[in-house]
Amino acid sequence: MKNDQTVLTDTFGRRFPYLRLSVTDVCNFRCSYCLPDGYKKSGCEPFLSTEEIGRVVRAFAAMGTWKIRLTGGEPTVRSDFTEIVEIAAATPGIERLAFTTNGYRLPERAEEFYKAGLRAINISIDSLKADKFREITSHDRLEEILDGIDAALDAGFEAVKINTVLLKGLNDDELDDFLDFVQDKPLSLRFIELMRTLDNQDYYGAHHLSGQTVRDRLTARGWQEIERAEGAGPAVEFIHPDSRGRIGIIAPYSKDFCKTCNRLRISAKGALHLCLFGSGGYSLREYLQSDDQMEALQDKIMELMRFKRSSHFLQQNDSGATPHLASIGG
Ligand code: 5AD
Ligand code: SF4
Repeated sequence: MKNDQTVLTDTFGRRFPYLRLSVTDVCNFRCSYCLPDGYKKSGCEPFLSTEEIGRVVRAFAAMGTWKIRLTGGEPTVRSDFTEIVEIAAATPGIERLAFTTNGYRLPERAEEFYKAGLRAINISIDSLKADKFREITSHDRLEEILDGIDAALDAGFEAVKINTVLLKGLNDDELDDFLDFVQDKPLSLRFIELMRTLDNQDYYGAHHLSGQTVRDRLTARGWQEIERAEGAGPAVEFIHPDSRGRIGIIAPYSKDFCKTCNRLRISAKGALHLCLFGSGGYSLREYLQSDDQMEALQDKIMELMRFKRSSHFLQQNDSGATPHLASIGG
């Protein structure tokens, strides 16, 4: 396929088989750490069209990207979401199509998403208690989301993962419930350390909990860490002989988190983000306007790679310029 000059690498020798592509900033939930006051429109620039999205996917696929995750905001709120999936799925070189969702209307839609070409799904569930779930997301929909997990498994999704943001004082008493929940299901549930953003500083101070506390509790219960697969996301995964499900920990504040970085991000308005916590993105939009620009687009992406830093430097309390993760898709 590609010679090495056209495979995406950075100055630290890292490769980028994995692109996280946001298709909208809009979200219909109001998670307390992300959009506590709900989504508010910013600027008048529209989100990427299906044609622009098709060009992004083609350019990255031509440079060695084979896994794409569609994110948001909540990606499924776009009325043309299924069309976007079909475009990405039909792009040569794209072998794995995943998405992250809050699970809204998943019981009705899981099959439609699978048929369009999605094979991996990440569903956010921060609590298995209905009242806590409502308190965190402002939606009384736990039951619906749980039914959505079954619907995704029934539809044939190859990977069904649950994202659980670790929240001190809110869900850190639920570890055993989460372990019981995955015990007889082919799920991978990942605890994500709460990340500090521009908008959630006080909340972060009150609720951040280190992933190490979960790691210690898992080890004490006989869980064992396994090796990370190629093209895998950022989770460290654990298995247990008595559990069908797996548990993962995503700890962006841990020492070596960035060493295995294999992903880039495109915002819903077409900016390349080299890191979740970089100081903003680089707009590619002017290169997305016609199919004739494919070479210029790839050259631009390649050129920007030299700005990718070795680490996010979050440990130094730098929260970058990210107001909340709904703007670049977590
Ligand atoms: N810290 C950690 N995880 C977050 N998410 C959204 N905002 C944050 C944050 N500040 C999670 C969501 C979802 C995923 C895309 O990112 O819960 O599961
Ligand atoms: Fe929406 Fe996800 Fe943010 Fe929750 S975390 S408000 S589901 S974008």
